[in-house]
Amino acid sequence: MVREVVKYGSQILRQPCAPVTRIDPAIKTLVRDLFDSMKAAEGVGLAAPQLGVLRRVVVVDVSRQHPELLPISLINPRILSAEGREVGEEGCLSFPDLYGPVPRHSQVRIEALDINGKLFTVDAEGFYARALQHELDHLDGKLFIDYLSPLKRQLVRGKLKALKKEGERWDQEHPQP
Ligand code: NI
Repeated sequence: MVREVVKYGSQILRQPCAPVTRIDPAIKTLVRDLFDSMKAAEGVGLAAPQLGVLRRVVVVDVSRQHPELLPISLINPRILSAEGREVGEEGCLSFPDLYGPVPRHSQVRIEALDINGKLFTVDAEGFYARALQHELDHLDGKLFIDYLSPLKRQLVRGKLKALKKEGERWDQEHPQP
């Protein structure tokens, strides 16, 4: 099911996510909803907190840019090793129409559980590695704007202010227990 993507300004995007302890039907539905919502928004990745769920689950799909790479879901992902550094332009579905340069590792090896609870590793580089690192950051409440320079931040201040209202609206409509 396609669900609304939580926008910047919501408290939920700043909270750390809890590990998944059991891959039950709710987690499987969450993974499906992440894929559906990412596709509907034409994104390359989406993390559970962006649908308002504080669990360590992300999906990534860079098949438009790299047709040989299949869409994947990662449960409880963690970075095993990382190398190199490159700066590239990034956006985020929680920040419509906002882009900025972000430094990331150029190569990463990540370990995660798949939808059947099986441990796997993925080696990624370039844009794929960037997308994965971006999504993993979401699980710790970290957002791509945190990496922007003070000058760039100043330039997008107006856009952020407008977005913040949307995020705050979401919080009001979805009070946390
Ligand atoms: Ni994002």
